[in-house]
Amino acid sequence: MRIYVTQPLPEPSLGDLLEGATIEVGESGIGEDQLIGRVSEVDAILSTPPVPITARVLSAAPRVRIVANCAVGTDNIDLAACRDRGVVVTNTPGVLTEATADLAFALILAVTRRLHEGEALVRSGTWTGWKPLELLGVSLEGKVLGIYGAGRIGSAVARRAVAFGMTVFTVVAEDGPERFEELLRCSDVLTIHVPLTPETRGRFGDAELGRMKPGSFLVNTARGPIVDEAALVGALESGRLRGAGLDVFQHEPKVHPGLLSRPDVVLLPHLGSATEEVRLSMARMACEEIARLFRGEPANNRVA
Ligand code: DGY
Repeated sequence: MRIYVTQPLPEPSLGDLLEGATIEVGESGIGEDQLIGRVSEVDAILSTPPVPITARVLSAAPRVRIVANCAVGTDNIDLAACRDRGVVVTNTPGVLTEATADLAFALILAVTRRLHEGEALVRSGTWTGWKPLELLGVSLEGKVLGIYGAGRIGSAVARRAVAFGMTVFTVVAEDGPERFEELLRCSDVLTIHVPLTPETRGRFGDAELGRMKPGSFLVNTARGPIVDEAALVGALESGRLRGAGLDVFQHEPKVHPGLLSRPDVVLLPHLGSATEEVRLSMARMACEEIARLFRGEPANNRVA
């Protein structure tokens, strides 16, 4: 059995679970064209989020029987093309829930309490001591946390919000327009936890951001293309939004230049699941799915 792994994974995950397989590991930053040249002989692809598994890649990989994504999101994979070819697709739900919720809450705290500005001030060597009016942020206690997406991660964020004395208002992608409008209107902080689908792509554009509560904050740890970054820059510039915390970007790894220069945004490089424990668990889950398929067992987490 030959397996192509699109990026290096935490060890030990490959060797012991995929014993006897020939494994080739790609390098970070690999794109569709490079991938096409490497998968012609492989039986399985262990994929990672930014690497696109398109219909072209699948056509170039006639032996592939499984794409095991080392992520819960599968928007990097053409699921319809996999179904057409009878290729099994799996993901890694559950293990990253708490870590991603932690990171979302870290962003909520960072942007509302201006942690990045405070840190920069101390490091600059220009801080002159405690001042009653220095870097005042916004308290979370008593505020409304709007959660767009009430799946595993959204629910884990809600539990944290309750511990911080916040009121939680939850909306799922399938809810009608009225509840979505209420989410925009009432949220002091709005955090996004839906997958990227045709329905959620561009869900937060000019019009929606313009209807958010004045002075509110937007946090996104889900997928970048759910928010139109140019519209977000406009909403921050106009003062409609007071700040934003982003772990994901519309054209990842590129970031809109209008965001890079703003002190009212906190920017992280897609770290939601980035703990040693979680990344190892994700890698092992993906390997296990490949091992199961080749043992003739059903997948644990099949999405196509
Ligand atoms: C996912 O799992 O979808 C994340 O974005 C990577 O952890």
